[in-house]
Amino acid sequence: MHVAVVGTGYVGLVSGTCFSEFGHHVTCVDKDAKKIAGLNRGEMPIYEPGLQRLVESNAEAGRLGFSTDLGAAVKDADAVFIAVGTPSRRGDGHADLSYVYAAAEEIAKAIDGYTVVVTKSTVPVGTGAEVERIIRATRPDADFDVVSNPEFLREGAAIEDFMRPDRVVIGTESERAREVMRELYRPLYLIETPIVFTRRQTSELIKYAANTFLATKITFINEMADLCEVLDADVQDVARGIGLDGRIGRKFLHAGPGYGGSCFPKDTLALVRTAQDAGSPLRIVETVVEINAKRKQSMAQRVIDACGGGVAGKTIAVLGLTFKPNTDDMRDSPSLDIVPALVAAGARVRVFDPKGMDEARHLLDGIEWCKGAYDTMADADALTIVTEWNEFRALDLDRVKELMKTPVMIDLRNIYNPNDMAEAGFDYTCIGRAKVSARA
Ligand code: UDX
Repeated sequence: MHVAVVGTGYVGLVSGTCFSEFGHHVTCVDKDAKKIAGLNRGEMPIYEPGLQRLVESNAEAGRLGFSTDLGAAVKDADAVFIAVGTPSRRGDGHADLSYVYAAAEEIAKAIDGYTVVVTKSTVPVGTGAEVERIIRATRPDADFDVVSNPEFLREGAAIEDFMRPDRVVIGTESERAREVMRELYRPLYLIETPIVFTRRQTSELIKYAANTFLATKITFINEMADLCEVLDADVQDVARGIGLDGRIGRKFLHAGPGYGGSCFPKDTLALVRTAQDAGSPLRIVETVVEINAKRKQSMAQRVIDACGGGVAGKTIAVLGLTFKPNTDDMRDSPSLDIVPALVAAGARVRVFDPKGMDEARHLLDGIEWCKGAYDTMADADALTIVTEWNEFRALDLDRVKELMKTPVMIDLRNIYNPNDMAEAGFDYTCIGRAKVSARA
């Protein structure tokens, strides 16, 4: 089939590339000519493991192309995916749908023959109906259906999540559109991926419900971690003990500094607003949003407390800036709360992140940018791990002790074991487990 994907961000670029890997003929479209030129040179605008190789092989096979000409791409397409940004609208937290609606109008002008227009971006309930209205108003003669097909891609695992999804959700009541969507996802039939066909607004809600449930699950274990600290219990064991219950599940029960990223913060807020507007407020999710924001802000205080209550004039090494490992994405990362708070408290902050430095430079200042983990901790009074990159998981602790002024570690991702750290002679603070101090 011929597919056009409008928008070459995380969702559009990964989806378009994976559809071409399925064997479809895909044109990814973006207004940003520089980005498109880069893609045509094989330069990736985002860091996503495995993406570069997949783009190159499918571009070489002639199945994948990049263009700024939306009209031409839509004209040939059997299916057109809207994968443009839906950021939080400044001030009120509603999703900003201006890019979606602009794309719908441009697509309408170019539709030629029966076309399925698919909202792949995360869009509030009812957006598909508005997209349909816009297209019909622009082109009363056009033969089309608007379908909801939300993505469930995790950054850093997006290709895996696309090629082997737990399920595909498709929202439409048109049998013709269902037939096109079945054809699009046919390769997943071979691995018997469940396809959930439902109505459009239900499909739109499923996406938000999934993300807000995951954000709620994380916030639950984060609050359990706080309780464990005062009860001298171990949150890792609590997570394991409840997670082995099939009704709860082991995933997304890692206590940490609070969730970030381009989705959970935005989607929880958007759903809260949708529910408030609908007169059926989601009080649990409202509380999750509030708790998570406060948690990220409170993390710097943990570092300050671990340094005896003040960091003025002290050197703090920060390992990890991105909101999670295996991405360069800094959006809503806990580091954006933690680092400025430490600087404001008078600390000299040295940072390193394997992939996020370029992005972070636009967002943080007044700090020292280091070349690697060990370089960062030279002469530091304390070391804090904010993002659990693999290369931070097996630091040479003897070398760390030699490099640092005092062996103080604040591990906000629980990647080390308190007993090992006590043996290695560290003052070790983590999340939801007892603090250890090995120094006499
Ligand atoms: C998420 C959803 O997982 C994905 O299905 C959706 O399509 C997009 O949003 P993503 O934001 O890329 O994906 O990252 P994810 O791995 O879900 O992590 C989100 C945040 O939660 C990160 O800040 C991460 O550090 C945090 N997290 C995740 C925890 O604190 N604990 C966990 O156990 C899992």
